[in-house]
Amino acid sequence: MYRRLLEFLLPYKGKLFVAVICMVILAACTATLAWALQPMLDEVLSGKNKTYIYMMPIGIIILYLIKGTAYYGQASLMAYIGQRIIYDIRKKIYNQLTSQSLSFFTHRKTGELLGRITYDVTLLQSAVSTTVTSLMRDIMSIIFLLGVIFYQDWLLALFALIVFPIMVYPLVRFGQRMRKASYNGQVAMGNMSSLVEETVGGMRVVKAFGMETYERKRFKEITKDFMTHQVRALKVQALSFPVMELVAGIGIAGVILYGGLRVASGEATAGMLMSFIVSLLMLYDPVRRLSRANNEIQQGLAAAERIFDILDTHIEVKDALNPLPIKPFKESIVFENVSLTYPQASRAVLRGIDLRVKSGEVVALVGRSGAGKTTLANMVLRFMDPSSGTIYLDGTNLRDIAQADLRAEMALVTQEIVLFNDTVLHNIAYGHEDIDREKVIAIAKIANAHEFIEKLEQGYDTLVGERGVILSGGQRQRLSLARALLKDAPILVLDEATSSLDTESERLVQQAIDKLMQGRTVIVIAHRLSTIRHADKIVVLDQGKIVQSGSHNDLLEEGGIYAELHQLQFEDN
Ligand SMILES: Nc1ncnc2c1ncn2[C@@H]1O[C@H](COP(=O)(O)OP(=O)(O)O)[C@@H](O)[C@H]1O
Ligand SMILES: [Mg+2]
Repeated sequence: MYRRLLEFLLPYKGKLFVAVICMVILAACTATLAWALQPMLDEVLSGKNKTYIYMMPIGIIILYLIKGTAYYGQASLMAYIGQRIIYDIRKKIYNQLTSQSLSFFTHRKTGELLGRITYDVTLLQSAVSTTVTSLMRDIMSIIFLLGVIFYQDWLLALFALIVFPIMVYPLVRFGQRMRKASYNGQVAMGNMSSLVEETVGGMRVVKAFGMETYERKRFKEITKDFMTHQVRALKVQALSFPVMELVAGIGIAGVILYGGLRVASGEATAGMLMSFIVSLLMLYDPVRRLSRANNEIQQGLAAAERIFDILDTHIEVKDALNPLPIKPFKESIVFENVSLTYPQASRAVLRGIDLRVKSGEVVALVGRSGAGKTTLANMVLRFMDPSSGTIYLDGTNLRDIAQADLRAEMALVTQEIVLFNDTVLHNIAYGHEDIDREKVIAIAKIANAHEFIEKLEQGYDTLVGERGVILSGGQRQRLSLARALLKDAPILVLDEATSSLDTESERLVQQAIDKLMQGRTVIVIAHRLSTIRHADKIVVLDQGKIVQSGSHNDLLEEGGIYAELHQLQFEDN
């Protein structure tokens, strides 16, 4: 783990080295200033030495200049390194996330992934910076300051060192309690975000079921939980300060008593004593930070574990090392004895699928809900690889084709429409770098979308809101059809594109679909069988197997599931 963390620091080792040098200089300056109190009191302020009166102030100014420069140097360098690490890790996580196959996301919560890319990364960065800063700067300061107190009065120094461990003990205890409280606080915070995300996203359902009070109560309990832990942590913090001061005060009182006696007997000077006490006080900060560093390092390690968990997740669908180039689609898509079992599932959802979709054909997939239609359609786009068997595009195994090349040949329209919080124009032209406005409008007209877009507040430049909330289901679907039309891919996959629409929208959408299908190879899953009766081939799936295939008339004659489903819909109408 430590080695992997160091890897993030490695690219910045030059900067890190300079930062560490600055830290050493900084610690040396601090100690020198504490040491300088002795000549200042004994030589300058006692008026004994005239040259010192002029030399000391100049020396002090120079020392502060060096100290300031070193401080700025280490602080700004560490800030840069810290932020760069955040940047690097975030980029890495996001790249990893976007490379994952779809099945990765079925088992993850958005909020949790979000937490890792925001919160955990920050924790990790702070742990890395703290480790470096504390281990370097604070340990240096401690060594130098200890040097000063031993130089000034080694006997007194030994005495002070007895007091020190007594100071450190409560520090450690407070640290433990803080850690527990802040850990519990984090858990509560996570619960809070999940709840907000879930209820805001599902506000319609929350309201429709009159669950506002219930959700408020749940939220109240969680925030209260968070508050309790926060208050506990802050109280520990509030207590730790006076306790520490008291312990330090007792220590100083002891030093003054013992030191005072030594000054009185002429064994030490006032300057020595002063320099000694100040050095001792200055030791307090680095020691405290060092003990706290452990907390942050522990938190950071936990965060690192969660981050590595994502970075290490095996990517299921991966491009081959040397993907084969493909020509524009012209022959067929072939499934050869394809089976699929979803990860973490016990039963196969597709079993022994043999299917040929010839270029220019319209092939419809029919079957009861849960039969495996969507899964089969997803496999054409290689959202997952077969557990056994092979899928070919024009004779090339899908595994040997770069995903980008493969998907460039295909357009997908599904029941759940994904719109991004952007303008209508950009949503239609999703994936296009240069947007040809005229072309988008022409396409929108074909998709029966132009008319309603015109009526929007800012036409094509209207923002559609998160997930397209300002549009109706039918309007959203027509935008997604326009998007598919603009992509103009030879293969079209339609997964229940009209299922969630009312009859009027369905008619408009169906018209658009018919235009979209022209001249393309189509794999269509349709809820309403009347829309696919003219398909070249109808394939009936049941429990993951192809049980029938043929034309509408053949299948009706044959009887079986297709005839049953047809009969059911016929009765409905
Ligand atoms: N990501 C998944 N992980 C595990 N099981 C899944 C997943 N997606 C779908 N399934 C299961 O696979 C079966 C087929 O689903 P699906 O292909 O969506 O059917 P259809 O589209 O025909 O309604 C269902 O039993 C469903 O519960
Ligand atoms: Mg489906």
